[in-house]
Amino acid sequence: MSSDRTRRGWIKYGAALGGLFTGCSTEPHEQSEDEGINKLGKGVGLYGERSPEQKVARLLGTNKHPEASSSTTPLDSTMGIVTPAALHFERHHAGVPALSEKDHELLLHGLVDTPLVFSIADLKRLPSASQTYFLECAGNGGREWSEKVAVDVQSGFGLASCSEWTGVKLSTLLQEAGLKAGAQWFIAEGGDTCKMHRSLPIEKGLKDVLLAYGQNGEALRPEQGYPLRLIVPGWEGNVSVKWLRQIKVVAEPLASREETSKYTDMMPDGKARQYTFAMEAKSVITNPSGGHKLTKRGYVEISGLAWTGKGRIERVEVTTDGGKRWQQAKLQEPRLPMAFTRFRFDFHWSGEEATIASRAVDESGYVQPAREELLAVRGGNSHYHFNGVKLWRIAADGKVTHVEA
Ligand code: CO
Repeated sequence: MSSDRTRRGWIKYGAALGGLFTGCSTEPHEQSEDEGINKLGKGVGLYGERSPEQKVARLLGTNKHPEASSSTTPLDSTMGIVTPAALHFERHHAGVPALSEKDHELLLHGLVDTPLVFSIADLKRLPSASQTYFLECAGNGGREWSEKVAVDVQSGFGLASCSEWTGVKLSTLLQEAGLKAGAQWFIAEGGDTCKMHRSLPIEKGLKDVLLAYGQNGEALRPEQGYPLRLIVPGWEGNVSVKWLRQIKVVAEPLASREETSKYTDMMPDGKARQYTFAMEAKSVITNPSGGHKLTKRGYVEISGLAWTGKGRIERVEVTTDGGKRWQQAKLQEPRLPMAFTRFRFDFHWSGEEATIASRAVDESGYVQPAREELLAVRGGNSHYHFNGVKLWRIAADGKVTHVEA
């Protein structure tokens, strides 16, 4: 292609986009020959690499023991609704065990007619299902409960990710084993050294729980539970037990450490809520957000993510004046139940200070509360299940920061 043709092509393209780029140059970038267009490129390879400019990475938590820490997804650098598996958040309690698919087995026992043991090959022979679901740690956004609210999306909201998971429905296995009378709960136990285990209602297990061996088209990554993990759609991430090795069907929940001292919600009257599983409707503007800087006045797309453990996102509203007026954002289709929903909103930044935020409404009619509304009900003792509205302030110089509580 001659550079003249390239130039005409670009100018035509620029004109078609019209007013969006007022103030932007439509001059084409001059391609010089030593940029490589006339050189033969690299050949095929066995496994892909990311582009050389890509610097996005998980942010490591501050726990001095990395085996009992977390890492967060850079939600403001991911696109659409899928989180690359390599950027999916982590929360481990005893490190990532080195397991092999060949040796791994799942035991299904307890209140069943026939106890069963499955190899991964056994599970892969069964009818499979692929579903896109978000996973969110119960502690995601926990900093928002205090006055030291999060300064950016990754540190404040990055304990949430979204993947297409492939595996076998737990209901398939439970039907195969046969449930005995009184089977009301099941305990899922992981193969890490702390044997992470959680009690879950059998009703949920029969409804939509997946035993996943695949994530975004390939095998689970070791830090995501390879070779087998539970995926409990819409519920706090801790119950989606990784490195799954055992399911025991029982009559009553266990009230284990993770169900008493942890993962409970202390209310203002001093009583704790237990087995609060579902993650409620939540959203956050990811672009622009804390730590970003707007460099040009005029058109800026506001974009973010919304999700709910109670089905589909029905609507997302955006404010650009600190909450006086809320307007409807465009939602990316299809809207999948218990998956991230991407929202987009056209914004013209005048160069003046603006306070922006989003709020999600799910198909149950539930409206994401303001932080103050949430605090009024839940009090100041909570660590988990924060889902209040998050405000970002765009200063006159374009710098975007969190808004002090
Ligand atoms: Co909970």
